[in-house]
Amino acid sequence: MMALTMSIVGNVLFQTDVLAETDELGAALSTALAYINYILSSFFPLPLNWPTERNRRTRQALDLLNRRMQKMIEERRASGEQGDDFLSILLRARDEDGAPMGDQQIKDEALTLFVAGHETTAAALTWTWFLLAEHPDIYQRLRDEVDTVLQGHSPTYADLARLPYTLQVLKESMRLYPPSIALVRVALRPVDLGPYHLRRGQTIMIVPYTIQRRPDYFPDPERFNPDHFRPENEARLPRFAYLPFGAGPRICIGNHFALMEGHLLLAALAQRVSFSLLPGQQIIPDNDKTITIRPRYGLKMRVQRRSQPV
Ligand code: HEM
Repeated sequence: MMALTMSIVGNVLFQTDVLAETDELGAALSTALAYINYILSSFFPLPLNWPTERNRRTRQALDLLNRRMQKMIEERRASGEQGDDFLSILLRARDEDGAPMGDQQIKDEALTLFVAGHETTAAALTWTWFLLAEHPDIYQRLRDEVDTVLQGHSPTYADLARLPYTLQVLKESMRLYPPSIALVRVALRPVDLGPYHLRRGQTIMIVPYTIQRRPDYFPDPERFNPDHFRPENEARLPRFAYLPFGAGPRICIGNHFALMEGHLLLAALAQRVSFSLLPGQQIIPDNDKTITIRPRYGLKMRVQRRSQPV
């Protein structure tokens, strides 16, 4: 799933087939993200320029990411290409005074979207296949919808409105396993939040994982039940009861893109292949080494081409 979403976001941002280099890039990203997790979870994180093994690995990873991005920018400039991918848009962008962005800002913007734009979606899809494999009746209902609506053709954006159950499945999966398990904020000044008083500099965490399992919002909350997102049920939810994309001014900038992408991928894959769990696995949600919530020991599934013609 990671290779798939990375290749998609690579295409959207850079019109480049990063899949060929997924392993190298993916490994570098994982190392960089693991470092962020280390910083967030340590009382005294060691500065990056200290000669530890972790720092050496992280610096190498950042170096590789930087070089790859720089190469893409230079290639794009040299070819004078006026594409409509995100990198071209950034290269053409001008501020109020007509000045273009510097290379560093372009790299930062593009890398932010590249990082934010695939690991989360991959995690959402991974958990969705797990949940579907564990709930054959729901899996069958999703397949029935996909087969009936698509009649063998590949799904396009225009089909999505006619695949509502598929979207309900995706939303319900992100309810139980929100890819970003927690949102973190630091108080800039003393503030009262309900019964809590926060001092300046104090950190708070908003945890969709627990909020989205509240029984007052979601009846029988531990059960995977896409009917939680039937339109009439979804309409009844209080505003912040479901927040896999965060909320407020910093809400995920890619939320519509991610929902569309996940919806399309679920339909396209459910149409073509079937996923089943290999036996003897321990599936434990974990976000120890990553920003997203993933199965701690991975998720091993058998993927079989579906027998019916598509
Ligand atoms: C299922 C997929 C995704 C999930 C669950 C997700 C989740 C989130 C969450 C929870 C936040 C808010 C973090 C906070 O409040 O501290 C966020 C922010 C962000 N997301 Fe996503 N995201 C997803 C996909 C994407 C995609 C596809 C992109 C871009 C192509 C993207 C780009 C961003 C960016 C740039 C921000 C920072 C926005 C800001 O601070 O103004 N995300 N995302």
